[in-house]
Amino acid sequence: MQTRGLPLYFYCPVPRPKRFASLALPVSQNCRLTLMYEAFFGLKEKPFRMTPDTRYFYPSAKHTNALNHMVYAIEERRGFVVITGEIGSGKTTLSRVLFQKLDASTQTAIIRNTQLSAKDLVASTLDELEIPYRPSNSKAFLIGRLNEYLIEQLRDGNNVVLLIDEAQNLKPSVLEEVRMLSNLETETEKLIQIILMGQPELKSKLWLKELTQLRQRVTLHYHLCALDSEETMKYVTHRLHVAGANGSVIFSPSALPKVYEHSQGVPRLINGLCDRALLTGYVNESKIIGPEIIDEVACELPALMQAPNHPHVTSDR
Ligand SMILES: Nc1ncnc2c1ncn2[C@@H]1O[C@H](COP(=O)(O)OP(=O)(O)OP(=O)(O)O)[C@@H](O)[C@H]1O
Ligand SMILES: [Mg+2]
Repeated sequence: MQTRGLPLYFYCPVPRPKRFASLALPVSQNCRLTLMYEAFFGLKEKPFRMTPDTRYFYPSAKHTNALNHMVYAIEERRGFVVITGEIGSGKTTLSRVLFQKLDASTQTAIIRNTQLSAKDLVASTLDELEIPYRPSNSKAFLIGRLNEYLIEQLRDGNNVVLLIDEAQNLKPSVLEEVRMLSNLETETEKLIQIILMGQPELKSKLWLKELTQLRQRVTLHYHLCALDSEETMKYVTHRLHVAGANGSVIFSPSALPKVYEHSQGVPRLINGLCDRALLTGYVNESKIIGPEIIDEVACELPALMQAPNHPHVTSDR
């Protein structure tokens, strides 16, 4: 193996029991390697981070549809929208893209911590909208403050959006409080537009008998599915491009279908797989990631086995 002038620690006599070396390295060395693979592939930064970074947003037809549903519901003051989606499909990313898209006449509140009581929910909404209150104030008082604020905003020609991410974790009693908030309205207008966003369990939760009233208020529901095979390829190429790829092939044409096969088009799983594949390519001095690297990495990443409908998942696992 040539050293390409890289630090010696890459070439320590580390046992290499597997065909590809990266995952056999001790964790500390693995971390140092990940810091350096960008330069090897001519990238400015790592293309497949796990964070919901909007710079990397790939507007697939599904993500665009979900976004359009939300924008429409907000602009038309439709009141109550539910967006569900598979784990890691891009819901939180979408929420950030949405908030960037809204203009200054829309006041926004986003709640991401859903382990809260009904009063905490109202208090968090006030915090987000910068409405002052005292912690000792009752929940009814807080709702009154919110109502006054919403009427002021309507008078000023503004709209107000409350987005609750991870809403599948809300207790039914808290979801019932969300319904009460959605009742804040004038005779003709909804004062607050509420978007509940969550994993598929949210849908089943909304079917609880005690939440019938809430369910009946949902005016729009969109379910975000995983990407299909073509979208997965475009997604990978898009992220590489944003990370500074200069157009030269990094993932071979036969590797990309493998990425889809192992991830089933779930963006978080695609990211995990591609990040590891780049690391492995770097360790093996392979500028082009071929299908065999994807297969190898997929076998070594247990989390990937959680992909929905993964061909290697059997019912008794
Ligand atoms: N359309 C997209 N464009 C670019 N990256 C995306 C897209 N969708 C998802 N991702 C990436 O996939 C990863 C997971 O996305 P995100 O956290 O938004 O998923 P999620 O649906 O909110 O997951 P969870 O169900 O765990 O809350 C992130 O790294 C994110 O950047
Ligand atoms: Mg999320």
